[in-house]
Amino acid sequence: MEERAVKKQWWKEKVVYQIYPKSFKDSNGDGIGDLKGILEKLPYLKNLGIDMVWLSPVYQSPFIDQGYDISDYYKISEVFGTMEDFDTLLAEAKKLGIGIVMDLVINHCSSEHEWFQKALKDPYGEYAGYFYFEKGKDGNPPSNYRSYFGGSAWEKVPGTDLYYLHMFAKEQPDLNWENPKVKKELFDMINWWLDKGIAGFRIDAIINIKKDVNFPSYEPDGPDGMCACTAMVERVDGIGELLGELKRETFAKRDTFTVGEVFNLKEGALEEFVGEDGYFSSMFDFAPHMLTEGQNGWYDTREVTFLEWKKTIIQSQMECQGKAFLSNIIENHDEPRGVSRYLPEYAQNPDGIKMLGCVSVLLRGIPFIYQGQEIGMTNCQMDSIEDYDDIDTYHQYREAREAGLSDKEALEACYRFSRDNARTPMQWDAGENAGFTKGMPWLRVNENYRMVNVADQEKDPGSVLHFYRKLIALRKSEEWKNVFVYGEFLPLFEEDESLFAYARTDGEKKAVILANFGKEEMTVKFSENLGKVLLANMYRPQQINAREVVLEPCEVLVCQVCE
Ligand code: GLC
Repeated sequence: MEERAVKKQWWKEKVVYQIYPKSFKDSNGDGIGDLKGILEKLPYLKNLGIDMVWLSPVYQSPFIDQGYDISDYYKISEVFGTMEDFDTLLAEAKKLGIGIVMDLVINHCSSEHEWFQKALKDPYGEYAGYFYFEKGKDGNPPSNYRSYFGGSAWEKVPGTDLYYLHMFAKEQPDLNWENPKVKKELFDMINWWLDKGIAGFRIDAIINIKKDVNFPSYEPDGPDGMCACTAMVERVDGIGELLGELKRETFAKRDTFTVGEVFNLKEGALEEFVGEDGYFSSMFDFAPHMLTEGQNGWYDTREVTFLEWKKTIIQSQMECQGKAFLSNIIENHDEPRGVSRYLPEYAQNPDGIKMLGCVSVLLRGIPFIYQGQEIGMTNCQMDSIEDYDDIDTYHQYREAREAGLSDKEALEACYRFSRDNARTPMQWDAGENAGFTKGMPWLRVNENYRMVNVADQEKDPGSVLHFYRKLIALRKSEEWKNVFVYGEFLPLFEEDESLFAYARTDGEKKAVILANFGKEEMTVKFSENLGKVLLANMYRPQQINAREVVLEPCEVLVCQVCE
């Protein structure tokens, strides 16, 4: 193993929990989660074994993209509370040994940000240079880029022949990273947050910050005559200089944890991004989540087999072994719930849910647990498109309808892939609104809250929640930490179509993780002896003491292996 793999760094040993603040816990009855609600639940997170909490954006925002459109980087949105509430949360979390990771959205800001407002007032002045204000070509936008949320990535600057670039919504103008003033403003802001004592940042959409400022048009990839704006992102060189500078001016000055949201990474760039001297501590492994992606959005996704999904995870693990430390998720605020997505119907039960959690949390890398994952929350079907509250869901629905799908068919696509699947309120108990709010929740509560909620699972030692606690405790235990955190990842039975199996070893001790995703029981044979049982989701004696083991459907078993 290379140095990087075993180099001890504080953040490698952590388990991170992602909070989507709007939907976590409402303390004041306005139907929207808030910082005081999070404060109230810190002991719950501590109890789960969480060391760091990533907060999706809590900054001032008009919420066109649920806070990923920031209008003031130095203010907390009033729907979430005040800066004082934030400071209290940070201090109280620290007392419990929990670090706060902020979301860093610096590819774009909100069109309501002061910079953009000033730019609109003086489209040829200083602040226009904070953005990309470009002349159109022959009465058309400067190029044929399609934004991530559909439609042209260029919007007219009112009263001029200029257009501004927005790779996401038109209310999210892209910041001009070629302008030293912009970089200085952003670096100052980042250092201001770091001065407060936060543990680090999750860095949003960061691959997009480098633009080809000639903005060439590319071959259209759809009937709208446009091409995805990623066509430019994938071709342009020079992002490294920007990210290197970002790191030098901010994160590197202290021991900051950073995790990048990086899509469209160029081949061979893994180490440059997250290697020993990489721009970030870690980045998410999205490879398994990208598999479903089709040509035309959610209505046109691919079916993915278990084998394909498993092999993709294994491939990511092998690619980064000895080189980098990825961050592993089964879901987040942009992805459907893992239980609904990765478990076949027969496995969508507490055993299956524990099995999925187990294979994910014990992978090499940093486990990220998204709120509600630890109790097995599932996708949520809304009655109509109006019940959703997500700009991307509206766009995907529209695209499906334009492609000729019926309302029902277009909704089906949303049932499977809408970002709101994971954004419904956290299910705390079986009472009104799942104990999330005393008011009217901003987004519908999933009806299954009477069956799936924290309070009931607290009482049941066999629950998914209790299993997650044991799972996290095992990963962090003095006895096994070195294996599960720093140890090597060794895939097993790679070609098996229902078994997900791997070993982890630090050279001294070795454990295997065996998970039967199939419908039938199976016998797994080893050349080594299976010994002490470290974790199981079904009844097992403390020792196996055999070279073979029979696994029930949906059974997961973690045990020590000895020569
Ligand atoms: C990231 C966020 C997503 C947001 C987008 C634009 O992908 O995770 O929620 O819509 O960036 O900021």
